[in-house]
Amino acid sequence: MTGSSAVREDRLWQRHADMAKLGGTPKGGVNRQALSAEDAAARNLLASWARARGFGIETDAIGNLFVRRPGSDPKAPPVMSGSHMDSQPTGGRFDGMYGVLAAFEALEALEDAGVKTKRPVVAVAWTNEEGSRFQPGAMGSAVFAGHNKLDEMLAQKDWKGIVLRDALAETLKAAPAPMRAGLPGFAVDGYVEAHIEQGPRLENEKKTIGVVTAIQGSRRYIVTIDGEEAHAGTTPRAARKDAYAAATRIAAAMYEATTDADDTLRFTIGRVEVSPGSPNTVPGKALFTIDMRHPRDTVLVEHEKKLEAIVQAKAAPCPARFERVTNVAPTDFDPRVIGLVRDAANVLKLTNMDMPSGAGHDAMHIAKLCPAGMIFVPCERGISHNESENAAPADLAAGARVLVEVLEKLANG
Ligand code: GLV
Ligand code: MN
Ligand code: MN
Repeated sequence: MTGSSAVREDRLWQRHADMAKLGGTPKGGVNRQALSAEDAAARNLLASWARARGFGIETDAIGNLFVRRPGSDPKAPPVMSGSHMDSQPTGGRFDGMYGVLAAFEALEALEDAGVKTKRPVVAVAWTNEEGSRFQPGAMGSAVFAGHNKLDEMLAQKDWKGIVLRDALAETLKAAPAPMRAGLPGFAVDGYVEAHIEQGPRLENEKKTIGVVTAIQGSRRYIVTIDGEEAHAGTTPRAARKDAYAAATRIAAAMYEATTDADDTLRFTIGRVEVSPGSPNTVPGKALFTIDMRHPRDTVLVEHEKKLEAIVQAKAAPCPARFERVTNVAPTDFDPRVIGLVRDAANVLKLTNMDMPSGAGHDAMHIAKLCPAGMIFVPCERGISHNESENAAPADLAAGARVLVEVLEKLANG
């Protein structure tokens, strides 16, 4: 039996079903935000499966969770695969979780087939990839790769003011695992991440495997506008400093400035807070987030300047701040890993196509440390960040088989 033929579609599917219960929503999705009780439950479940198979587990100071299958050369740096178990507030069952479970399935398949590798193979669940609760996203992999500083990340607050350090301590208390000493990060020889595509191209083109070549650049911002609370019934327009009215002027100008002819630039205002949130008080404060992405960094630089200028031009009479909270440059994956993914898909007779990723992934940070690549599988109608996200068991298993083939090559190289 080869490693890839030992991948079991039923086992992989059942593991998704088991994980989907943790933070499961009535509409069939999940709400398992980073460092929540549901996140802790998912960590415990993964750790229990790992222990049952005799794999080693450990965590690091930002809460990344590693499952290790030893290699024959104990000194050789491992190859690694994984993704994230946290979700959007109205998230699906596969975004991130598939990459973790495919990596775990790869470890189990290698074990079942009795395949020995020179290097250890590590499955990883990175902390807070989504960045919906704590900023920035892809935090665990960013700290691991040295893109963000541990202390600064531990000091981040969620929208309710809970400090990440405290949420992480609670999570690790509820889901204990042996702690690695020192700062996060260790030598890794190669990294491959499996993920659902989160877009419609594979399905439209009837392909099973996306050979991912690159990830577009992304930046996030927070715009904060200070107004002045006033009586909604008595205050004339000229006397108002309405923070929400300023926010809508700014937002409207931003949508216009980011509408490109070829529909490549991605611009999203995904969170708006208005306070005090009373129907009959003129808002004294407004805050909104911006998520902007493009394959070329120069376009992001140019549009960042435009957005900043709009804030200054449209906020009056309210003072406003424009703050960048994330900046990840576009990533080109390693040609050798890209080739290994393509070759594995061909060897397994799986239809495939090269494609860039519109979504961000932990692989974008790990690609700075070692040769890295990604494997996409289709998801129904390309829907993601949505409770109705869905994928076919056979496609998930096909992606896991490709993953095993690639990991074996990397782990013996
Ligand atoms: C990840 O979920 C992203 O926002 O790209
Ligand atoms: Mn994801
Ligand atoms: Mn996501």
